Order: sequence, then C-alpha cells, then structure tokens
Amino acid sequence: MVLIELDRVGKSFAGRHGQMVIMQDISFHVNDAEFVSIVGPSGCGKSTLLRLIQGLDRPTEGEIRFRGEPVRTVCLGMAMVFQNFALYPWLTVRENVGFGLEALHKPPEQIRATVDRYISVTGLVGFEEAYPRELSGGMRQRVGLARALAVDPTILLMDEPFSALDALTAEGLREEVLQLWQDPALPPEGVLLVTHNIEEAISLSDRVIVLSRRPARILEDVKVDLPRPRDRKSDAFYQLTDHVYSLITEGVQVKPSPPGSVST
Ligand SMILES: Nc1ncnc2c1ncn2[C@@H]1O[C@H](COP(=O)(O)OP(=O)(O)OP(=O)(O)O)[C@@H](O)[C@H]1O
Ligand SMILES: [Mg+2]
Repeated sequence: MVLIELDRVGKSFAGRHGQMVIMQDISFHVNDAEFVSIVGPSGCGKSTLLRLIQGLDRPTEGEIRFRGEPVRTVCLGMAMVFQNFALYPWLTVRENVGFGLEALHKPPEQIRATVDRYISVTGLVGFEEAYPRELSGGMRQRVGLARALAVDPTILLMDEPFSALDALTAEGLREEVLQLWQDPALPPEGVLLVTHNIEEAISLSDRVIVLSRRPARILEDVKVDLPRPRDRKSDAFYQLTDHVYSLITEGVQVKPSPPGSVST
C-alpha cells in the first residue's frame, strides 16, 4: 500500500525579486513498511518538502496524498523529528513527550500510559521529571523521538535528526530508529528521512531520493538492495555511495537554474 504520494509537486515563495522557485515536478511515493531517505545540497528545499508533506504548508503545484487522500491541513498520521530537537524548555521530559497527545485532548490516563510506554521504548526511564537543559544532545533527541512516536504516526518524518549529535550517539540512535521501524508492534510503518549524510541514507534506507540544487528536482530514486545490517566497508556499499556523491556533485555543477528562479 502507498502511504505517501507526491504528484508533480512544486513550491515557490514570493521573494523580494519576484517568485523564488524552490522545487519543481517532485513525484515519488513511500510504501507501507518502507524506509526512504532524501538527500540533496544544502538549501535545495528538503525541509520545505517535509513541511509540505506533513501539511504545515501547501504546494504551489501538484498534490500530496496520504493513503490516497489529499493532504490539506496538518496530517495526524505523520509526526516529525527535528535536527535541533525543538523541545519545550519549560516542560519536563514527561510533559514534552505527552505534548502531542494533550493537543489531541486524549484522556489523562491514556496519555500517562502512552507516555510511559515511549519513555521506556526510547530509554528515558529515570529522566521523566528532568528538563531539556539537564539532558545531553542524545537524550534530548530521544525525547524528540518519543514525542513523535507517542501520537502513533503511520509515517515518521525526520529532518536531519542525527546531525547535531556526536558520531557514537548518532550511530546508536540510528540503530534504534531502524529497530523501531522493523518492529511490527510499534510505530511507525514508514520512515522518510532527510539527511546531508549519504552514508547514513544508504546504511538505513530502501531507497534514496537524490535532489538537485534549487530549484530541486529529483535526479534519481536510487534503490538500495543491500541486506541489513549493512556493511559500510563492502564494495556494494561503496559503489552506491560513490554513485549518489557523483549525482549530487554533477547536479550541482551542471544544472542551470531555469528562467524566473532567483538565487539568494
Ligand atoms: N517560508 C518561506 N518563505 C520564503 N522562503 C523560504 C521559506 N521557507 C524556506 N524558504 C527558502 O527555501 C529554500 C529552501 O529552504 P529549506 O530550508 O527547505 O532547504 P534545506 O534543503 O532544508 O536546507 P538545509 O540543507 O540547509 O537544511 C531556502 O532558500 C529558504 O530560504
Ligand atoms: Mg533543512
């Protein structure tokens, strides 16, 4: 089953020098039980794309569908994990994790049970009453993850979730996200990860969608047909990494901007 489908999506913003075209003709889908990554040069519109998918903003062209239904407002089947954690500093871990459920006006006993569950799943037991400032980066991102999972999302959207973490912490959390995705008893069913890190995309994903520089277009939807757990030192892994690197670097060098687009 197709979870998310983008059909010739385009987005422009009104800038000081007229319309700024951010992306054009973006079509792809994320199926049930798929882990898909999006990579592309800095500023090409990856975060904007995630916002469009979740319904936080509307495309200028084309359509986005979640389970066949057009996304018109914030879609409750999706939850986002952010690079900078985006926690509420004045709320405890418990309150941060329960925030989305409170917003959905769930009964207090259900909120408590769900929050306890995801505090446990993400390894935050013992930190329930701590404030974000008292936590390491890795622990803060666990809170971001727990908060996203608590609303039982079908699709987890992740915007550079590991890039603010040290290498070892990032590796541990990547592994945990992979396990969550593979566990049929826990959300999410599908993951859409935005990352700068090509090795990260290839080590986690079933497919890697490579975007060009702005205005972003899809350069290639690369299938990663390697068994998990993946060996980053294997020839096949190296070849795929090399392929995606050259797509991005060549895309950056040769793709001219179409008329009407303004660079900032
Ligand atoms: N609300 C907005 N109004 C005007 N321009 C915007 C708006 N949101 C994003 N942009 C512009 O769209 C472009 C793409 O931004 P976006 O943050 O999506 O890129 P990105 O690929 O996520 O970048 P990075 O890799 O640095 O995270 C940028 O030039 C940004 O200034
Ligand atoms: Mg971004």
